Amino acid sequence: MFQINTNYQKLPGSYLFAAIGKKVREYSAAHPDRKVISLGIGDVTQPLAPAVIEALHKAVDEMGAAETFRGYAPDLGYDFLRDAIVKGDFASRGCGIQADEIFVSDGAKCDCGNIQELFAQESRVAVCDPVYPVYVDSNVMAGRTGTYDPETETWSNVIYMPCTEANQFVPELPREIPDLIYLCFPNNPTGSAITKAQLQEWVDYAVRVGAVILYDAAYEAYISEPDIPHSIYECEGARSCAIEFHSFSKNAGFTGLRLGYTVIPKELKWGDVSLHSMWARRHGTKYNGAPYIVQRAGEAVYSEAGRAQTMAQVAYYMENAKTIYHGLKEAGYPVYGGVNSPYVWLKIPSAMDSWEFFDFLLENANVVGTPGSGFGPSGEGYFRLTGFGTKENTREAVERIKKL
Ligand code: MLT
Repeated sequence: MFQINTNYQKLPGSYLFAAIGKKVREYSAAHPDRKVISLGIGDVTQPLAPAVIEALHKAVDEMGAAETFRGYAPDLGYDFLRDAIVKGDFASRGCGIQADEIFVSDGAKCDCGNIQELFAQESRVAVCDPVYPVYVDSNVMAGRTGTYDPETETWSNVIYMPCTEANQFVPELPREIPDLIYLCFPNNPTGSAITKAQLQEWVDYAVRVGAVILYDAAYEAYISEPDIPHSIYECEGARSCAIEFHSFSKNAGFTGLRLGYTVIPKELKWGDVSLHSMWARRHGTKYNGAPYIVQRAGEAVYSEAGRAQTMAQVAYYMENAKTIYHGLKEAGYPVYGGVNSPYVWLKIPSAMDSWEFFDFLLENANVVGTPGSGFGPSGEGYFRLTGFGTKENTREAVERIKKL
């Protein structure tokens, strides 16, 4: 009789955003007359930039002609895109990243979820709390759990690093020494940012204890303040201790197109073994490369026109974040984030827990957000709203919440 990977039994029934989607569909079906506004999942609403569309059309035409048709993409990505990434995201920041250290993929979520395969089963994993659920769930699937405490909703083998108002939602170095440290800045879900000096402390710590930092930079395009690093490789020593994930979803609206990349510097080694070679081996075995047309679309994001157009989209979403931030503040909610991030993290000022507040908002304002507890125990009592809606819907949602 076959056996299953029973670690899957340890997971909550559905992925956080799938559970929310189901609740909202049920609500809408029961109340077809109500206009529900979603500021829940961080999914974009603006159409792709003209430069991206132009590149897609051109690439589609190339695929239709025998002379320019392309079959399997190189599994680590086309050079034209890897070169554009290095030039656009790293060279001007003095990060020292080379094109052959970039692994192109179909998005940061898969890479964040799959990267744990490179590490030993017994690795101790540290995560911020609250946290993007993919980091914890993918390690639970791999059995890096220990025992579950239903009281605190935590796993004994996972090191939770509370991110609270007291530390301005930037974790302190953990007391127990981890092997892997997931960091995401600007942060999902709290919207907090980390200064270069603070991130340097993490890099120094990782080098000192022999840990690897798994750095999710999906929201770096939203950084508006100086002294906030766009890449961990701006810090000294990061090349020997950090892997970085990037997405085209949030900076260029590729949530439906799918494109991302992961950086693994060649200095990152376990003894003589290079993690770069391991990930290249994995990519070659399990992945056939992001589609040619999508990689051409990604290249267009780095063109002059593409940059200007996608930056305008980021500014549009940041205006929404500001609308939410200031609107809720006026309404008396303590609010955080929204400055270097499209996410606003608000404190629920009542006896309600996060899921009760979710139901309350859905029922009374027909607005969908994300309950803080869905991101981890320290998210309880908080709620996330995203700036990724349309301007009109965002304004309407804020007005409705203010009237409650
Ligand atoms: C979120 O809402 O946290 C994100 O959109 C999820 C994701 O990027 O996968």
